[in-house]
Amino acid sequence: MVRRSVFTAAAVLTVGFAAQPALAADGAQLFNMQCKMCHGGSVMGPALTGAAGGKIAARADFAYSPALKAKGGTWTDASLDAYLKAPAAFAPGTKMFMAVPSEENRAALITHLKTLK
Ligand code: HEC
Repeated sequence: MVRRSVFTAAAVLTVGFAAQPALAADGAQLFNMQCKMCHGGSVMGPALTGAAGGKIAARADFAYSPALKAKGGTWTDASLDAYLKAPAAFAPGTKMFMAVPSEENRAALITHLKTLK
């Protein structure tokens, strides 16, 4: 009995530690897991190089929704945060449905977006 519960505790600890890297907000890793399938050269979404700090819906090589086109302005930390938090609330009718509920993850992703030049 005692042996068994020690083993169980060790197993739980191991799983707990193994899960840590995924929980720590690593923008590059999050981007690879949650964004790249659409924003990594696929036709599903626009390339995001230069997006942070640039004009919203500005690429000539992507057919944006009228909703995002109509927003105007630039992608600041605040507008990126709002869009990633709730895309449809930021631009009702947007073609992007991927929301990032975690504030920590959004911050890490925005930091990563700024490195995409
Ligand atoms: C299922 C595909 C898909 C996924 C996954 C996705 N996006 Fe998008 N994203 C889009 C599409 C489509 C648009 C264009 C939206 C529109 O035109 O309304 C877009 C637009 C954007 C824009 C605005 C780009 C511009 O040129 O103005 C940003 C920033 C963005 N996405 C960030 C992200 C981030 C960060 C993630 C990962 C958390 C992500 N997206 C995940 C499809 C996706």
